[in-house]
Amino acid sequence: MGGVRLALLGAPGVGKGTLAKMIKSECNVPHLSTGDMLREAVSKGGKLGKDASEYMNAGKLVPDNVVIGILREKVMECGEGFVLDGFPRTERQAEALEGILADKGVPLDMVLNFEAPVEVLIGRLSGRRQCRDCGAIYHVKNIPPKKSGVCDACGGELYRRKDDRDEAIKVRLKAYEEETAGLIDYYRDKGILESIDAGQQDPDVMFKRIAAILKPYLVN
Ligand code: AP5
Repeated sequence: MGGVRLALLGAPGVGKGTLAKMIKSECNVPHLSTGDMLREAVSKGGKLGKDASEYMNAGKLVPDNVVIGILREKVMECGEGFVLDGFPRTERQAEALEGILADKGVPLDMVLNFEAPVEVLIGRLSGRRQCRDCGAIYHVKNIPPKKSGVCDACGGELYRRKDDRDEAIKVRLKAYEEETAGLIDYYRDKGILESIDAGQQDPDVMFKRIAAILKPYLVN
């Protein structure tokens, strides 16, 4: 499988990162998460990271020009296929992505829009734990690690993201409604949107559905 160019759209906590990691390993495409790129910049502690952390900890979007610059570099250096997670998040970012892909000479094949009720999103965000070392994602109830606080995959420490606190969750959900949800119509109008129920489904069941949708794009 290779070469598919995908973007995952959906509210905070809907499961984009969880499914993107499965798509990456099963479909052999790089996982480009702007959230992970920004968290890496924060952990390095330079100016970009310091500026970004103020927006991220408060649950606000990082300014378009910053995120577009980071994403452009990663898309230009990766191969033909990729799964974008958390980008684009504004119409300006969507237009910028078109420009980046035009420069690279490839189209965006599909946008998968994950949908779930708001109470499901809040439950997922408040119970999420992530590995500091390998980035694996768990949930204290839905997808618990075998040993509390320890990553099954690498033994690293599991932590709770600063933006998974109640106040920041509220701001993030509002930012999604105000700045990102409009992209559903944007991509529906372009004829490349597929919506997926992410509220009731186990990640493995969701992945099977996604693999079936992607089949025409995956060349062995
Ligand atoms: P980012 O890291 O992208 O966060 P997000 O979009 O808010 O999404 P999340 O990572 O919170 O959730 P997810 O949908 O990936 O869910 P997950 O798989 O983890 O961005 C963070 C911040 O960076 C932003 O707020 C902003 O400040 C900045 N930023 C990033 N990109 C930006 C951009 N383009 N422009 C501007 N600013 C940007 O799952 C959540 C939980 O649910 C986990 O515990 C998981 O185990 C569980 N779970 C997942 N799937 C299921 C399932 N099917 N059933 C049961 N439980 C499940």
